[in-house]
Amino acid sequence: MKWDLSQLEIIAEGKTKTVYAHPENPQLSLLYFKDDITAGDGAKHDVMKGKGAINCETSSLVMRCLNRHGVPTHFVEQIDENTQLVRKVDMIPLECISRQIAYGSLVRRFPFFKKGEQLPYVTFETHFKNDAEHDPPINKSLAVAGGLLTNEQYKIIHGITIKAFKILRDAFENVGATLVDYKVEFGITSDGQIVLADELTNDSWRVWPGGIEEHMIDKQVYRDTGDVKKAKVGYEQMLELVRRF
Ligand SMILES: Nc1ncnc2c1ncn2[C@@H]1O[C@H](COP(=O)(O)OP(=O)(O)OP(=O)(O)O)[C@@H](O)[C@H]1O
Ligand SMILES: [Mg+2]
Repeated sequence: MKWDLSQLEIIAEGKTKTVYAHPENPQLSLLYFKDDITAGDGAKHDVMKGKGAINCETSSLVMRCLNRHGVPTHFVEQIDENTQLVRKVDMIPLECISRQIAYGSLVRRFPFFKKGEQLPYVTFETHFKNDAEHDPPINKSLAVAGGLLTNEQYKIIHGITIKAFKILRDAFENVGATLVDYKVEFGITSDGQIVLADELTNDSWRVWPGGIEEHMIDKQVYRDTGDVKKAKVGYEQMLELVRRF
């Protein structure tokens, strides 16, 4: 890469990535993937050496797959091991979740779902990004009343979340794995286009090779065990899987 990131303006910084202003093109940003791994809204935190590069490549491959299928994303290209060129967007502060198997917070919050049961259709939820409040659920009525986005924009992110989930569900199925659930985020470009932004990595979903819960390779391994070495094997296996998308 021809730029020294330490010289660039930081637009946003989270626990696992940093967004830098592009030094030449105001329509673009640089997205740097760190080695940090966190769970429980940051309550658990470790450094997994090599994770940034693995996740950067994973997200590049997955975003490319979505672009091929006509899903608008912020991804432009990967420009070095840990860094992507992305379209500059204003982030919508919602986590958009789709599921096809009940697991995690869903079965904790709603005991009428049995852990591991197949849902009758791909579901859609939104949560407001607020670590201190553990990303509380929010619906369209509140999100629009609160000025986070318009009614039309909410419908668009709903549609893209479901569409992208089905594309990735099929891609995982083709390589012998089950996509249980995932989380995506959206941004709005300067010309008003809604694009899938942020990342799609092993931090974003639950994936069970062979459809078997005990064979999970995603971040759930770290949430459950806190074992960084063991979890890293899953991140490496995930990269191998998405290379076949
Ligand atoms: N194309 C983009 N333009 C601007 N901001 C972006 C873009 N893609 C992602 N972001 C934002 O970059 C920030 C940093 O990402 P990161 O995932 O580390 O943060 P976080 O969501 O606060 O933390 P965590 O994901 O660890 O809970 C987030 O606020 C994310 O929404
Ligand atoms: Mg994030």
